[in-house]
Amino acid sequence: MAAFPAGIPVVIVNYKTYAEATGKRAVPFTEALLRAAAGKRVTLAVAPQAADLLRVSQATRVPVLAQHVDSLAPGNGTGATLVEAAQDAGAVGSLLNHAERRLTLAELDAACARLAAAGLARVVCTDNARTTGAAAALRPDLLAIEPPELIGGSVSVTTADPEVVRHSVRAAKAVHPQARVLCGAGVKTGEDLRRALELGAEGVLLASAVMKAKDPGAALGELLSGLP
Ligand code: G3P
Repeated sequence: MAAFPAGIPVVIVNYKTYAEATGKRAVPFTEALLRAAAGKRVTLAVAPQAADLLRVSQATRVPVLAQHVDSLAPGNGTGATLVEAAQDAGAVGSLLNHAERRLTLAELDAACARLAAAGLARVVCTDNARTTGAAAALRPDLLAIEPPELIGGSVSVTTADPEVVRHSVRAAKAVHPQARVLCGAGVKTGEDLRRALELGAEGVLLASAVMKAKDPGAALGELLSGLP
């Protein structure tokens, strides 16, 4: 079954390197998010650190994404994360080209190809409408437009720069009509999610609003109140 069924809004929580969801804390953190999303018409996915993929995928039923994979084949590659290793650890796909882990175009293309060959989902991050259009040519499962200057900030991209979302959706669909685009950076509230969907995005990619919340489940619940 597809990791991100068409027509269902997508919410991806990127755990980045937040201590709150690192190591032993990753599973209870994820369980709190799952409770908040229970019964809602949403595909919730989480992106823990590579070292936590296995523990989260084994202990919960949430689709788990790697935050990054490398394109190299098994062999010489000290410090790299293999597609095969992420898959064996239970990942259903990977984020790629996040603002905090940019790739060259050639590397991005190669990583997309290796994920596709393994039957894993590709969620490619971009920073503006031009790069979203360009990345759509790689036919990822999802694109995620995140203006870097708004990441971790207090104002959602949907308020600070709604046009970048609208234009990114348009640019992606001009290249590949089936392209699906998420948006992220500063996304926090139900209103932010509602606005994202209104702008043509199919969901959101977020971190700090949930990762830094006193009650992460409640923070996700507030976000999901914006679902149709
Ligand atoms: O990957 C999600 C991200 O970069 C957005 O972060 O903290 O602005 O929700 P944040």
